[in-house]
Amino acid sequence: MDPKKQTAIIVLIAVIATAGIVVGITYFVMAPSDRKEADALEIYHWWTSGGEAAAVGALVDVFEDLYPDTVVIQSAVAGGSGTTMIPIITALVLAGEAPDAFQMHAGYEGIAYFDAGLLENINHIWADNNLEAVIPDVVQSMSQFDGDYYMVPVNIHRSNVIWYNLPELTAISVDPKTIDTWTEFFAACDAFELANPTKDAISLGESWTQAHLFEQILASQGIAVYEDWINGDIISASNSDLLAALDILNQFMGYTNADFNSLSWDAATDLIIQGDSIFNIMGDWANGEFLVANSVYDTDYGTIAVPGTNDMYGLVVDAFQHPKNVAHPTNSERWLEVVASKAGQDAFNPLKGSISARTDSNLALYGPYHDWTFADFETVTYMFPSVVHGSGAPQSFSSELSSVINAFTTGAATKSATAIAIANLAADNAADYTTVWALD
Ligand code: GAL
Repeated sequence: MDPKKQTAIIVLIAVIATAGIVVGITYFVMAPSDRKEADALEIYHWWTSGGEAAAVGALVDVFEDLYPDTVVIQSAVAGGSGTTMIPIITALVLAGEAPDAFQMHAGYEGIAYFDAGLLENINHIWADNNLEAVIPDVVQSMSQFDGDYYMVPVNIHRSNVIWYNLPELTAISVDPKTIDTWTEFFAACDAFELANPTKDAISLGESWTQAHLFEQILASQGIAVYEDWINGDIISASNSDLLAALDILNQFMGYTNADFNSLSWDAATDLIIQGDSIFNIMGDWANGEFLVANSVYDTDYGTIAVPGTNDMYGLVVDAFQHPKNVAHPTNSERWLEVVASKAGQDAFNPLKGSISARTDSNLALYGPYHDWTFADFETVTYMFPSVVHGSGAPQSFSSELSSVINAFTTGAATKSATAIAIANLAADNAADYTTVWALD
């Protein structure tokens, strides 16, 4: 090599090495606490759809306004309902490599971390921020393990929602607000498909969205049925409510797009936005997609509760926690305080579709869809925690449910084989049921 070039390379290497040593020495002479706080906050979440990303962006903005010197690293793992992220984060947490905070459903989902002693008790955050005064009891208890707080909720989503395309329903003279039963719902589907022979009345997405749908159909059989289910008490394959729910699901599948297994939840929502289908059953994170598409509530689209669940509110609660031994413990707790704050919740939830987990929210910041959910949350008789979204039943049950339901929706399993599989799941995981729900 040309000696000049060689010298230049040696000088460059020396400069880089010296810089590295200086940075290293500076790092080690810092007090350990400063070292850890070298100012960053890393959070994991799966909010990657248009509406979800806008919402978490607004929440991060609130944090950054308060702590402008802290770099927020959003590690976002695509995959609705956390299907991709949950196994990744579980492996990280159990290996002691947890980020400063991560999206998790309130309820059962975090029990494995709690049992392994990997979560910090955050009673002080609840007390210092007076959260018990503003967070509904049902969400308070979902945020605890063994009577202590281990997470703060960022929202309350509603799961039992039908999203519809209003102009398409008007075109077939159906007033969606009059649909109260599955019979009326399927009659509207027939009318739409008669008028639009190349279209499917219902849009449906990938595996977990099918399990989400099954959960809503089961709730439509009555709160007592749902309560038995999440208490692990439906253990007979001849349970008539379970069989009736599978019959409805089977009928439902007759109206859906054929490519359901390959559509994400937001792609299925988009079919409603585009008027390719009239109905989609999904949690109210879907509202974020309508907002991003500039669809207008009660003009372009609207919502009703799933038939038979008018008086119920299906709960999906997203939360964050303070894992033990994280790189930035102070920032972890600052994040939790922002998540729990009125400003944080009122920035996040109007875009996310959920209502605030706080009762003191500024309703003027929310849109017309939220008028419906804020009002219903106050007036419904029953709340029911979601199984598919980590709250209502042990993970050992929920994680298997999607594949059991998917075998049925794709025709790979018969009704009786599916009923046996669902009943067996509860029986096989009996030891993991630690909560006795009383939903009335
Ligand atoms: C749910 C989560 C929501 C939303 C949805 C789709 O499990 O609670 O916040 O993100 O998945 O990704």
